[in-house]
Amino acid sequence: MNNFDFKIPTDIRFGKGKISCLKEELGHFGKRILLVYGGGSIKKNGIYDEVMQQLDGFDVYELSGITPNPKLETVRKGTAICKEQNIDAILAVGGGSTIDASKHIAAGACYAGDPWDLVLDRSKVKEALPIAVVLTICATGSEMNSGAVITNEETCEKLEINTPLLYPKLSICDPTYLYSLPPKQSAAGSVDILSHVMEQYFQPNDEAFITDVLSEGVMKTVVKYGPIVMEDPKNYEARSNLMWASTVGLNHLLTVGKGGAWSVHPIEHVVSGCYDLTHGVGLAILTPVWMEHVLGDGTKSRFARFAREVFGVKVDDDMTAAKEGIKKVREFFLLLGMPSTLSEVGIDDSKFEFMAKEAIRTSGLSTRAYVKLDENDVMEIFKKCL
Ligand code: NZQ
Ligand code: ZN
Repeated sequence: MNNFDFKIPTDIRFGKGKISCLKEELGHFGKRILLVYGGGSIKKNGIYDEVMQQLDGFDVYELSGITPNPKLETVRKGTAICKEQNIDAILAVGGGSTIDASKHIAAGACYAGDPWDLVLDRSKVKEALPIAVVLTICATGSEMNSGAVITNEETCEKLEINTPLLYPKLSICDPTYLYSLPPKQSAAGSVDILSHVMEQYFQPNDEAFITDVLSEGVMKTVVKYGPIVMEDPKNYEARSNLMWASTVGLNHLLTVGKGGAWSVHPIEHVVSGCYDLTHGVGLAILTPVWMEHVLGDGTKSRFARFAREVFGVKVDDDMTAAKEGIKKVREFFLLLGMPSTLSEVGIDDSKFEFMAKEAIRTSGLSTRAYVKLDENDVMEIFKKCL
């Protein structure tokens, strides 16, 4: 195993009714709260009212309208409110987009210049406001990790900052809050969870046996429960297992002892940055094609292990098992109702060259990935996705 440091400072409150702790816990961070949320789902499903009950007695300022693939402009708006109103803490009520925007706002609020500077040079993030989360969609793991992805529409860049200062201090995860998710978002969330674990599982170092076995458990959880929530959105067992899978899937536990760079996310981020595509949808299209592209003599045994452990493939020959595993991944995404080509989501080849360059420039794909990829590889993957 590689050496590692492991510290997660997020207080998780998991389960039905856990919102009841919000008032007391948030009180530790101060009285002046910026409440951040998305396009209004929380007003329709009643979560907003439950949160507001808890916020009785606080001075609450609101920033609504955070879009999926959150934009830099919104972050600028949020940092301005924090500075003008002397905000003590940020309460993000939503999913990855709302949480990520809140993290950028939390850092931007403590920085004199433009928040984009912090994305370009994360060493400039010296301080951040405390962040609390009420999670309403399980996918990204942002509720218990230190990453935050933001899109700069002017430059067509979708980039991440990642620093321990951005761990939420508190995350309330109530699986019943997921009952109102549209099927597409439930499905995209399951794809994202599976993809996060695969990114960490397919790495050059495969000596971290314990981490791999934990990862297989999380991936099996997604494969078991992902389809159940599509059929039965109010199934508490399925929602709760998936919700915890999303948190564990990307809270750094499953990267312990491994290291390396991710393979599919850097490619997907440029696509959703350019086309505002749902992140999980982009991953569903790219992942099986990436698997086929990197499958070879050097990778077949790990792909075969994945196929056997996660999808129960019972074939002795590694290459045959690996191919069967890729087929299973494809079938799983189709079962969730995900598209399988870029054409289906209205994307043609006009930006392939730009996006391939961007994917290489902004990631460790060509230097530290499971199988190193260059621009031509990424172009080829895009073409096979058409
Ligand atoms: O905006 P509202 O009206 O709330 O609707 C949202 C949004 O349209 C809706 N939704 C959320 N909870 C709901 C609900 N609708 C009904 N009932 C509920 N309970 O779902 C839609 C998607 O929300 P979003 O927050 O965009 O989803 P997700 O959690 O998948 O976040 C995606 C963003 O996170 C980034 C992605 O790139 C993307 O920008 N990621 C963040 C990561 C991180 N911080 O660690 C890692 C990931 O790999 C990912 O890159
Ligand atoms: Zn993701």
